[in-house]
Amino acid sequence: MTFSAGRQFIVQGASRGIGFAITKQILARDPDSFVLATCRGIPSQAEALASLQRKNKSRLKLISLDLESETSIETAASEAKAMVHEVDRIINVAGILHEKGLAPEKRISDITPSNFEKVMRVNALGALLVAKWFSPLLTKARPSQFVNISARVGSISDNHLGGWYSYRCSKAALNMITRNLSIELKRKLPKVVCTAIHPGTTDTNLSKPFQRNVRLDRLSTSQETAVKILDVTDKLTCRQNGCFLSTDGVPIPW
Ligand SMILES: NC(=O)c1ccc[n+]([C@@H]2O[C@H](COP(=O)([O-])OP(=O)(O)OC[C@H]3O[C@@H](n4cnc5c(N)ncnc54)[C@H](OP(=O)(O)O)[C@@H]3O)[C@@H](O)[C@H]2O)c1
Repeated sequence: MTFSAGRQFIVQGASRGIGFAITKQILARDPDSFVLATCRGIPSQAEALASLQRKNKSRLKLISLDLESETSIETAASEAKAMVHEVDRIINVAGILHEKGLAPEKRISDITPSNFEKVMRVNALGALLVAKWFSPLLTKARPSQFVNISARVGSISDNHLGGWYSYRCSKAALNMITRNLSIELKRKLPKVVCTAIHPGTTDTNLSKPFQRNVRLDRLSTSQETAVKILDVTDKLTCRQNGCFLSTDGVPIPW
């Protein structure tokens, strides 16, 4: 089946957290939209996403995509190509900060090559490979967007605390990827806008262990963050191509 009416979105990393909330929010606010959502593993096992799909059978399709495997990303892109063309917006959301056996480093002695490589592979290389295989699906007919969900801690000039070597490096690399993409994609798609967006601290599994020092009024729900990301990206213009932005549209220093 190929979908052609309304705006087409691809949300990469939709199983939970911010990616799931963005998927849900697009479907709720844009009744003509179609969303192709990806998740690692078998889509029917991502419970909340599978249930959202059952409620939006014709407007939400799910495919598997593991950022650690280029074969998986390439296969997902060819499955996507059979379902969507003229994609308006690709949002690269998935990322890792911690998991079993992997915690953000407090100091240089905490660095392990395997953890550093893993975080770079998912947060930076994975997003880059998604751009490689999925950006050809972006529409030439209308303004389009490629959005990378980054993090303020990826800013080099805003780094006053240190620590979190792997995660900071991965998001700084993602920011450079975004800037490069903004230059290259523009050559074929004059109306494209590529951005790196800091979602703000959001109550998800990723931030859970680090929320102790976050003021409650600074901690958003996934739904609030999804609304802010969609509001800010809806208003982007070509002048913001290649920018690193907060969800209120203010540029963040590189
Ligand atoms: N939460 C915050 O405060 C905050 C702040 C700044 C930036 N961010 C960024 O926002 C993005 C979303 O974070 P979140 O808070 O929503 O995190 P989350 O709730 O922990 O969700 C992480 C997502 O990434 C997916 N993922 C992890 N490894 C993957 C892989 N190898 N292949 C494909 N998908 C993979 C997970 O899929 P599974 O379900 O399969 O594990 C899940 O969908 C991340 O890029 C993060 O760096 C978040």
